Formats: sequence, structure tokens, C-alpha cells
Amino acid sequence: MGRKKIALVGAGMIGGTLAHLAAMKEMGDIVLFDIAEGMPKGKALDLAQAGPVEGYDAGLKGTSDYADIAGADVVIVTAGVPRKPGMSRDDLLGINLKVMKAVGEGIKANAPDAFVICITNPLDAMVWALREFSGLPHNKVVGMAGVLDSARFRHFLAEEFNVSVEDVTAFVLGGHGDTMVPVIEYSTVAGIPVPDLIKMGWSTQERIDAIVARTRSGGGEIVQLLGNGSAYYAPATSAIAMAESYLKDKKRLLPCAAHLTGQYGVDDLYVGVPVVIGANGVERVVEIALNEGAKANFDKSVHAVQELLVACKGLEPSLA
Ligand code: APR
Repeated sequence: MGRKKIALVGAGMIGGTLAHLAAMKEMGDIVLFDIAEGMPKGKALDLAQAGPVEGYDAGLKGTSDYADIAGADVVIVTAGVPRKPGMSRDDLLGINLKVMKAVGEGIKANAPDAFVICITNPLDAMVWALREFSGLPHNKVVGMAGVLDSARFRHFLAEEFNVSVEDVTAFVLGGHGDTMVPVIEYSTVAGIPVPDLIKMGWSTQERIDAIVARTRSGGGEIVQLLGNGSAYYAPATSAIAMAESYLKDKKRLLPCAAHLTGQYGVDDLYVGVPVVIGANGVERVVEIALNEGAKANFDKSVHAVQELLVACKGLEPSLA
């Protein structure tokens, strides 16, 4: 059995981190694609030279030619521009929509059998557009947001409760934006739901509300601190978890931006919901019961994504 092939479209901050993680985990041979000419080749060479020290065997190639992604098992897309301080994810729409068109066509022509994970923002709209431009089956195209948003929530909860992050599970649904929905009823420490932990005196509703608010603006907090770019370590790790679930048929249940066809009362939209990822891509969309407040927030989130799609269709008539 030959090695798997992982193509990273966009070799910037997240792309480079993805390549490093994929190499360290020996997930397969790695292609770093970017419109910038030398940079992907330089990163590939640098990472290849780390191999002898770290002891990983992975082919690493940098390229600006879509032909090099041919036959990829997984394609992870970060091509586009990231946020600068003061910008919302939605401000990136116009530029990144054009990028999705080029990338979608590149995937369609060269890697139509791949499992595609989109990271480019504004996520829920870009993954929808990428799917449209690529023409791939909906179950083979997903967006990475929920794993990251949940990881942020888990980190803050673990700090609050002073327990290991390993034992904290958390759910964040909805769009990857200010309307995302951290669901505390389904967030636990070793199975004990957060509302029970509040009753047990581990925290207060006010403190949990503040953590929910901080999770919602978790990406923006990092954009402010970095000054010229957005987060990349945690986003890359989150996408790698999704890729591994596909490549190893782990069937993990992960919150991802997935295509809905009536679930949660939503049709033909990508939005963050729990899904099972296995060898067939998105194998199941899990419909959990949401309480009234969470449902209202979820609907608000869906509405925000819908508005972005209207904007996309206005900018790119072929999507209408
Ligand atoms: N095709 C391929 N690569 C492209 C294209 C294109 N049409 N347009 C831009 N790129 C490349 C840029 O050259 C750059 O190297 O995409 C890369 C993006 O990398 P960074 O600017 O470092 O951005 P990064 O932090 O990796 O974030 C990428 O993910 O989280 C989102 O909001 C973020 O949309 C942004 C994306």
C-alpha cells in the first residue's frame, strides 16, 4: 500500500503548520500549493530537512501547479487572505470568493476523489462556494470551524474548572462567526454537564456566560494580539483531526460545517453541526435536541450564513 497524499492549497501560516503536523504524524506525502512561487517550495524543503531529525518519512513538494495535487486523498484549503485587526471574517468575502473559484476548479480537474476540508473564511460561505465550484459530492466537502471553536471553549472551561483539557468535551454549533452557538448542556467534564457543574458550585452562570462570550470572539482576540494575521496552530490541528478521521475511517463525531438537506430545518446550506467523519466522508449528520435559547441562536447563525450566500451569489452570478 502506497502512502496517502495530502494536498494543502494555500501554504501560508495555516498551510505550513498543516504540513508540519501531517509530516510529524506521517499521514502521507504532502504537497504544498500556493500562488506565491518560491515560498511553498522553500517550506517544503525546510520541512523535508526536519525529517531526519524528527524521524519522519514523508515526501514534501512545494508547487504552484495544480497538476501536482493530482490524486490527492485529502485536500485542505487555506488559500485566501486572513483577517487584520478590526476586520470581521465577513469582510474577506469578496477576495476569498474569487480564490475559491480558482481552487474549486483546480480540485475538480485534478483531485475529484479527494476529501476536501475548507478553512478559508468566512468559513460557512466559502465552503459552500468551494463545493459549488468543485462540483464534488456534498459529503466529501466540509468546513473546519466547530472543532476549533469547541477546542477554544474546552480550553477556557478546563482553565475555569482547573481540570485536564482531555476530560473536557464541548459543543459549539452554528456558523463560524459572532453568532456561533456554544451549547453548555452538551459540554461536560468527564460526562458531567456544565449546568450540573454550576449546581455543584464549580463555577457560576455569570462566569460561564463570560466564557461563552470569549469563545465567540476567540478568533478575534488572537487577531488583535498577533497584529497582522489570524490564528494558525489551533486551526491547523483541528483540520488534521478531521483529516485523520477520514483517512483512518475513525468515524469520529466532530462539529463541522456540513451540508444540510433539511436537518435542523435548514436546506442547502453549510453550517456547523455534529457529523460523523469516516472513509465515506461525512457519513451522518447528527441532529441533537437544542433548547429554546440554543435553537434561537442557531437560527440567528443560519440567517447570518444565508445573508453571506446572497452576497456570494451577487458577486458571482454562476453561483445563483
Ligand atoms: N491560490 C492558492 N493560494 C492562494 C491564492 C490562490 N488563488 N490566493 C492566496 N493564496 C495563498 C497566499 O499566497 C497565502 O500564502 O493563501 C495563503 C494564505 O496564507 P496566510 O495569508 O498566511 O493566511 P492563513 O493565516 O494561513 O489563513 C488562511 O484561513 O483561517 C482562515 O481567515 C483565514 O481565510 C484565511 C485562511
